[in-house]
This record gives sequence, C-alpha cells and structure tokens, in this order.
Amino acid sequence: MPVVKLSNGREFTATAGANLVDAALSVDITLPHSCKTGRCSTCKCKVLQGETTALQTETGLTDAEKAEGWILSCVRSAQTDVTLEVEDLGHVVLPPSKTLPCRINSLDRLATDVVRVMLRLPPTADFRSLPGQYIDVIGSGGVRRSYSLANANMADKTLELHIRAVDGGVMSDYWFKQAKANDLLRLNGPLGTFFLRELKQLHLVFLATGTGMAPVKAMLESLTTAEPEQTPQSVTVFWGGRTAEDLYFDPQAIPAGHRFVPVLSRAPTVWTGVRGYVQDALLATQPDLAHTVVYACGSDAMIRSAKSSLLAAGLPATRFFADAFVPSASH
Ligand SMILES: Cc1cc2nc3c(=O)[nH]c(=O)nc-3n(C[C@H](O)[C@H](O)[C@H](O)COP(=O)(O)OP(=O)(O)OC[C@H]3O[C@@H](n4cnc5c(N)ncnc54)[C@H](O)[C@@H]3O)c2cc1C
Ligand code: FES
Repeated sequence: MPVVKLSNGREFTATAGANLVDAALSVDITLPHSCKTGRCSTCKCKVLQGETTALQTETGLTDAEKAEGWILSCVRSAQTDVTLEVEDLGHVVLPPSKTLPCRINSLDRLATDVVRVMLRLPPTADFRSLPGQYIDVIGSGGVRRSYSLANANMADKTLELHIRAVDGGVMSDYWFKQAKANDLLRLNGPLGTFFLRELKQLHLVFLATGTGMAPVKAMLESLTTAEPEQTPQSVTVFWGGRTAEDLYFDPQAIPAGHRFVPVLSRAPTVWTGVRGYVQDALLATQPDLAHTVVYACGSDAMIRSAKSSLLAAGLPATRFFADAFVPSASH
C-alpha cells in the first residue's frame, strides 16, 4: 500500500481508494479539512512527489492551481508513494464526531434573514467540540447542511446556530417557514479543523461576513476563559455586511478584550464607520502581519480574496485559517 509522507516527517499508509484525509484520520493523523467534498479548499496541499487520483471533482481548485500541482486531499487517493507539502495538526486531538438526536429548544429572528436556533441534546449525550467547529444538521428526508457552532460553553447541552436564509434553499425553507420548538432532528459532529491554534505573542484577527460571525462568537467566548499563556497580544474582529442590519448582534457584549470594527459594503451616506470589505479594512490599519494570525469565516469569495491579498502583503501562509460557507454538495 502507498506510503504518504508529510512535510514534518510524519507518514502513514494509505488504504487503497480512501481519500487522504480519511486515510490519515484512520491512524489518528489529522490533516486540515472542513467540507470533505472538494469545495472549500481547506485541505488544499501540494504534491511534491508521487501520483494521486481524483475521487471526485475538485471544485475548490482553479485550473492554474491544478497545473501547479495543488490537490484537495479530501477527494484524492494515493496511487503511488506520495510526499505532500502539508503538516498534520500534531498533538491536537479532535473531539469524536457522533450522530445524535436533538430537538429545537428555541428559534429567534436576529434579523429579517437570520435566525438563531438553539438545539437541545439528550441529557445523557456526551458532546464536546472545539470552539470554531461546525455540525451537520440532518433534517427530514436526510437533507444534510453544515452550520457552525456559535457557543463555546455547552454545559447545559444546548448548541447555538446562526442561520441565514438562502433564496430557494431547502433547509432555509424549513428553518424560516416550518421549524418550531420541540421539532426532532439529528446532528453529526463536531466537524472540521477551524479552531484556535497557538496565539502567544501574536495579534489575533478575525474576519467574518454574515453568519460567518457564528464560530467567531464561540472563539471569542473561549478567549474569556483562556489561560494567560494562550492569550494573544491583541484581538480585533472585522465583521462585514452590506448594511448595518446584516450585523445582527453586538460582539462587544462578549468580554474578550477585543476591538470590534464593523465594515459595510453598501453603507448609507449617514454611515461614519468603515466602508468596503473586511480584508481591505484590515490592510488599511497597516497591521504587523509578520506577527499576526488570521481566522476568516463566511463567504468563499471573501476568504479567497482575503487569503490572496494578506499573503501577498506578508502574512505567513501558515497563519491564515478559514472556514468557507460553501453550498452543500447534495440537494
Ligand atoms: C463548514 C460550513 C459551515 C457553515 N456554517 C453556516 C452557518 O453557521 N450559518 C449559515 O447560515 N450557513 C452556514 N453554512 C452554509 C449552509 O451549510 C448551507 O449551505 C446554506 O445555509 C444553504 O442551505 P439551504 O439548504 O438553505 O440551501 P440549498 O438548498 O443548499 O441551496 C439552494 C440554492 O442556493 C445555492 N446556495 C447555497 N448556499 C449559497 C451561498 N452561500 N451563496 C450563494 N448560493 C448559495 C445553492 O447552490 C442552490 O442553488 C455553512 C457551510 C459550511 C460548508
Ligand atoms: S475541499 Fe477538502 S475539506 Fe473542503
């Protein structure tokens, strides 16, 4: 069976036909990933040596990236021994993902097109997640959609989701027109590798668009109880929307010692705050990118644009983490 080598020297044997992310996970090696369906690019890495086979279309790669040797390891299997330019997550052990029943505890409109859903787990359920991770909610007929967890503390067995309505969306139709308290659903999770890494002596910057604020809220909440050695030099949150209504809650209510910068792309003339896009707003502050770590969440367009402009301006590639809200593969 082919042997897969990573940049930090770790290696594993790839099971025939298995994608590289799952093959690694089966021996407790975690490669960065999120959607696992070739759309979000979180698992993007370069093949330095050897041959891999695409198991599914790599929607999250451009033709130029494919020509340069980039692959999406969640939808590629090893054909020969392979050397990849990627590191695993080291000592981090992800909480086990499980499929559990849950009920809707409450539904609250936070804006015309955003609803907060509180899901209640069975009292005996043992569910843990790292702030920033997401779950898949499985609705009637097996429809499955991903939603980030917006709360860090789940001691009371409730999970908070912030859901934006998508026109013509199957689950949007459910959340905004049919869902009611006590509805029975299933969830699978926690999922993904979007969570805070080493922060010491770094400036921590969050970039969010729309409901991309959900995992940022969970991460901010976790910072309020962080050990001093995990405390960054500074924390700044840039939250972008078209108009003020898109910024549907006040992140300053979370006591994480952070600076909050609302950014509007279609602001009315009376708006005196920052205009444009979150990544440009960050660059306009002339940040010390050599000592900054960025966590970006929300639209795929923002994440691609932020990554390319921040890396070009000097942010080390290993200090950009993202979770893209790409559409689901199944409809
Ligand atoms: C890791 C991850 C985390 C996510 N977390 C959240 C979250 O916390 N909150 C949240 O609101 N959403 C989140 N999403 C998006 C969510 O999973 C759904 O894709 C979205 O809500 C649409 O589902 P739907 O069933 O309403 O629409 P669908 O029935 O899936 O789609 C209807 C139509 O709209 C298109 N479409 C779907 N999404 C988009 C989009 N974003 N932009 C443009 N067109 C689109 C589809 O291609 C389709 O044509 C997340 C996605 C991922 C991958
Ligand atoms: S593209 Fe591989 S995890 Fe999303």
